[in-house]
Amino acid sequence: MNKELYKLPDLPYAYDALEPYISKETMVLHHDKHHLAYINGANSALEKIWKSREENTEIDYKSVLRTLAFNAGGHLLHEIFWKILAPKDSGKNQPMGEILKQIEKDFKSFERFKTEFSETAKSVEGSGWAALAFHKDHGNLAIIQIEKHNVNLYPEQKILLCLDVWEHAYYVDYKNDRPKFIENWWNLVNWDEAGRRMSL
Ligand SMILES: [Fe+2]
Repeated sequence: MNKELYKLPDLPYAYDALEPYISKETMVLHHDKHHLAYINGANSALEKIWKSREENTEIDYKSVLRTLAFNAGGHLLHEIFWKILAPKDSGKNQPMGEILKQIEKDFKSFERFKTEFSETAKSVEGSGWAALAFHKDHGNLAIIQIEKHNVNLYPEQKILLCLDVWEHAYYVDYKNDRPKFIENWWNLVNWDEAGRRMSL
């Protein structure tokens, strides 16, 4: 059995690369503290499970597995979140190719998709995410609203794009103005990467 633990990935750009829309201070806190905390939480749950197996003891499965789902979900979503962002003017911020075609097919227009996605992000109650998922079986896209890091997800949803609307993602820069953060976030989407994920 592979017992490799989760590791914090490096950001694919500098901490200040997403300014002026996301500050260096936010990125340092978000990546180095919050993302790391989910990795540590997931690893500690995994170790608890492995140790109980080694020692042939019982654990509170309901609690440990809930902790694992929350923290591993947090880690995996953040891993995608960093990758699907690119600095403004990086040449990757325009939707194009197959993913644009698919969006126009499934949502009628890019503008309609953008509105639906933004409204989904704005209306997350408390902490959570908006995400664009591709259902390979049906060959279409869907917007999903993820509560916390792991609620409302179901198997076979391949996430192409995700937007973190936990307060830690924007509070330093935008205080309680989540809609402004969402509006500015669109300038940073790495459509090359989202399109690549759709083709996997
Ligand atoms: Fe986050």
